[in-house]
Amino acid sequence: MTPAPPTVHRVLFVCLGNICRSPTAEGVFRSLVESRELGAHFEIDSAGTGDWHIGAPPDRRAQHAAARRGIDLSNLRARQTSAADMAKFDYIIAMDRANHADLTRLAGARHRHKVRLFLASSPDPGRDEVPDPYYGGNPGFDQVLDLIEQASRDLLDHIVAQR
Ligand code: 4NP
Repeated sequence: MTPAPPTVHRVLFVCLGNICRSPTAEGVFRSLVESRELGAHFEIDSAGTGDWHIGAPPDRRAQHAAARRGIDLSNLRARQTSAADMAKFDYIIAMDRANHADLTRLAGARHRHKVRLFLASSPDPGRDEVPDPYYGGNPGFDQVLDLIEQASRDLLDHIVAQR
């Protein structure tokens, strides 16, 4: 008998521009999945609800903050979310409430159950959004990474527990 193909979980991280928070989440989550040797079971991507930065690499500040933690974002390129993404992905992870609202509309009744806030199960009840660091300075990018590292561990534990 041929063995059953591996279960593949498709995870899409979404922010506004797809140059700061969601590519960071894509890189951090992929690195975590690989460190647990689960790469064959995941398809991981990111996108933005806005179209301003399509084709651009991640913001240099995001790349530098990630590189300081051993994560290379340089090959990622921004793209915009599409209706096809809503059908394809199993977990559609919004960085903030505005992204969540936009994605819920795009997903429609059929797929909106897949959309969740990345920090929805954050241990800090006052913090359910990854703040947009774009107009701030470098400390904002390190804070974003701290939040994303914790939320990535929580999300991976949740997905693995579902299997
Ligand atoms: P991101 O950050 O949503 O985390 O990628 C932003 C990047 C660009 C803009 C806003 C937020 N922008 O307005 O161009």
